[in-house]
Amino acid sequence: MPNLNIGLVGASFVAADRMMPMFAPNGFEVSALFDTDEQRFPLWAEHQIPMVSDDLDAVLGSDIDAVYISSRNEQHAPQALAAAAAGKHILLEKPMALTMADARAVVDAAYRNGVKLAVNHHLPGGPVHSTVRRLVDEGRIGRLYSARINHAVALPQKVREWRLAPVPGGGVILDITVHDASVLNPLFGTMPLRVSALGVSQAPWNVHRTMDSVMTTIEYAAGDGLPKLAQTHEAFGVPFPGTSMEVHGEDGAIVVHDAMTPTIEGTVTWHKPDGSVEDIPTGAGEDLYSINLRRFRDFISDEGTPTVTSDEGLLALAVALAAERSIGEARTIPLEEM
Ligand SMILES: NC(=O)c1ccc[n+]([C@@H]2O[C@H](COP(=O)([O-])OP(=O)(O)OC[C@H]3O[C@@H](n4cnc5c(N)ncnc54)[C@H](O)[C@@H]3O)[C@@H](O)[C@H]2O)c1
Repeated sequence: MPNLNIGLVGASFVAADRMMPMFAPNGFEVSALFDTDEQRFPLWAEHQIPMVSDDLDAVLGSDIDAVYISSRNEQHAPQALAAAAAGKHILLEKPMALTMADARAVVDAAYRNGVKLAVNHHLPGGPVHSTVRRLVDEGRIGRLYSARINHAVALPQKVREWRLAPVPGGGVILDITVHDASVLNPLFGTMPLRVSALGVSQAPWNVHRTMDSVMTTIEYAAGDGLPKLAQTHEAFGVPFPGTSMEVHGEDGAIVVHDAMTPTIEGTVTWHKPDGSVEDIPTGAGEDLYSINLRRFRDFISDEGTPTVTSDEGLLALAVALAAERSIGEARTIPLEEM
């Protein structure tokens, strides 16, 4: 397969730290870089990207096949609409948009313009969560009851900027809850029905006193006759003990340590119906962002599906926005409202 030219929309930390090392091994040549903040460009000098510009139209008009959009959250939808209109395939960072209407407009624009659109949730396609879904699908814990995700972490110092500010697109829900929904939705495999959440501000260094700790409960439809519940905790100011996930069934359970941590290989333990416990190998090894790029490359070439389709991205966003609305309006939100 020949290399594809890709333009980076957003000179972001995630683009530099996680994605840059993975483009070339997966058949992408980074040929353009866009950001609104020129002060970011010197940090990228070592990569010698042929076109570095603060003019999005110029980048979209250049000889690129695809874009990777990792700007601030409120810029995702307008930039994705522009990329679709320019006929470029799109790997879009989460959250796809700040509203369901805008996210649906992006999906429609990609369809109308005949470009591929995938969402860069890194967790669901990884070996750990693929293993957990396989164990559940194989009936190893019987019918699924519930899942609990602990995704409370300490936000690294260098990204404590717009995420914490009281600006559109900031906050822990659009940063982390949306990732947790991207894991839970395919695990349950039925529609999320309703969402209830509470959030507070805890981290003493969060000078804006914006919400940095959220707990969310989601009810999933009973495809097999049993109603199902999931619970998540996302936080920016919790340094210990690391992330984890528990999945409970009528006959057994699955416990995952470091379940939501991209830099550490998670471990999967199966609690069997007879009470014994077995560690399950996951075949971990490939970087999670490499998996996403490899599958995006195959998707563009009509040789596979992306890790997270636009429809799956929409559903993850719907759960996150329902959590936000639940906190704002102090009520449980039926998903059909979203
Ligand atoms: N899929 C993942 O695992 C993952 C991981 C990290 C980030 N992300 C997503 O990637 C995107 C970028 O995140 P990031 O942390 O790498 O972004 P970042 O803060 O490095 O940069 C994003 C953009 O914001 C601008 N910016 C940064 N600070 C600013 C400020 N104070 N005021 C105005 N503009 C500012 C930058 O110029 C850049 O265009 C976000 O949408 C985030 O949700 C995804």
